[in-house]
Amino acid sequence: MSVLITNIGELVTNQPERDADLDPGGAGLVAGRGAADAAREVAGRPAARDAGPAGPARPAGSAGLAGSAGPAAPAGSAGPGPFAAMAGAALVIDEGRVAWTGPASRAPAADQMVDADGRTVLPGFVDSHAHLVFAGERGAEFAARMAGQPYRAGGIRSTVAATRNATDDQLRANLRRLAAEMLAQGITTFECKSGYGLTVTDEARSVSIAAEFTPEVTYLGAHVVPPEFEPNPGGYVDLVCGEMLDACAPHAQWVDVFCEQGAFGRDEAAAVLAAGQAAGLRPRVHANQLTAGPGVQLAVEVGAASADHCSNLTDADVDALACSDTVATLLPGVEFSTRHPYPDGRRLLDAGATVALATDCNPGSCFSSSMPLCIALAVREMHLTTQQAVWAATAGGARALRRADVGHLGTGARADLVMIDAPSHAYFAYRPGVPLIAGVWRAGERVA
Ligand code: NIG
Ligand code: FE
Repeated sequence: MSVLITNIGELVTNQPERDADLDPGGAGLVAGRGAADAAREVAGRPAARDAGPAGPARPAGSAGLAGSAGPAAPAGSAGPGPFAAMAGAALVIDEGRVAWTGPASRAPAADQMVDADGRTVLPGFVDSHAHLVFAGERGAEFAARMAGQPYRAGGIRSTVAATRNATDDQLRANLRRLAAEMLAQGITTFECKSGYGLTVTDEARSVSIAAEFTPEVTYLGAHVVPPEFEPNPGGYVDLVCGEMLDACAPHAQWVDVFCEQGAFGRDEAAAVLAAGQAAGLRPRVHANQLTAGPGVQLAVEVGAASADHCSNLTDADVDALACSDTVATLLPGVEFSTRHPYPDGRRLLDAGATVALATDCNPGSCFSSSMPLCIALAVREMHLTTQQAVWAATAGGARALRRADVGHLGTGARADLVMIDAPSHAYFAYRPGVPLIAGVWRAGERVA
């Protein structure tokens, strides 16, 4: 059944990614005619209907939805190149995918209609960094930090103890609750890491439970060295690269390592990533969170999809990211919750790096699943424009997960959308803390 969403005050589409190394995530995108193609046809030149290659295959009777009409003007020029938006727009969903975008005045008929009444519609958020398989909480640690205690990587061990003591069903229930919390706030794709089990059995059940909720599962056996291996950290790295990896790889797509003082050094981290890659996992790195260490350089060297945190960067780190395909994933909720200084996101963008925003939702360094909060903080504290921040929370996250089917609303994209009760995307930062989400669609289904 097709759905027309019309009277959209601002439709943020972003430009579809077409790089060969991205996962198209379904038929139609590469051949499809994206909204960005249409956006280039602004300036009084209406697009010819049905020009260009056809969109995704459609059942008989819905052929009228094919093609894409020229939209109204894109919203401003201060954002990153790929940010694109149109005013007075409409969008058609068919078969779970975006079938058409363009001016509301030229929208085709559909089986069902939703009147957005001037609200904003944007792609569902893509949260490329979250730790959601855990038990317990660390509210007292947070309160102590706010009273002056520093954040230490060692706090992870208290969650490890609680996680090991939890049943599978308890871990599953906690993850289900957090995934629902994310979805209600517009996160329609999320990555989920292990890393609070740190035994073969506990890491294997962590990735296996995560895989019940998301295809983007990351093996993070190398989160910290657990207490029982303190006298023998090398033995723990061997376990992470051997038996633990063998047990986890079948359930995961990604391998990650916390490359940091108090966690894993450069050589250990390199060994973990190499072993993961040899097992078919793709690398990403917790890099330069607490110190300007070797994490970013390592991430770039191994061709990691992302270097996450990037809170302490040298000029050489910024250059390395800018000259690579490794996405710099910023996690402003962590700086908020640890009272650490915010990195300058504008510095990365000006250098030419690709920036994503993610929640890093976890019980220690940031127990928030709110992407709107991340956007507001990135704008206010990391010097991103509102357009850059929204792009980073949608298309940037997709890029960090190497996904081409989400993060934008080009024709053929998965119909993951967020509607907000506001006339523009800027309201995420303009009205921080206000529950603006008015509707969420995932793969064309209205879920909130
Ligand atoms: O991304 N930095 C390492 N891991 C998490 C923190 C986990 C914790 O404190 O429990 C992070 O910030
Ligand atoms: Fe993290």
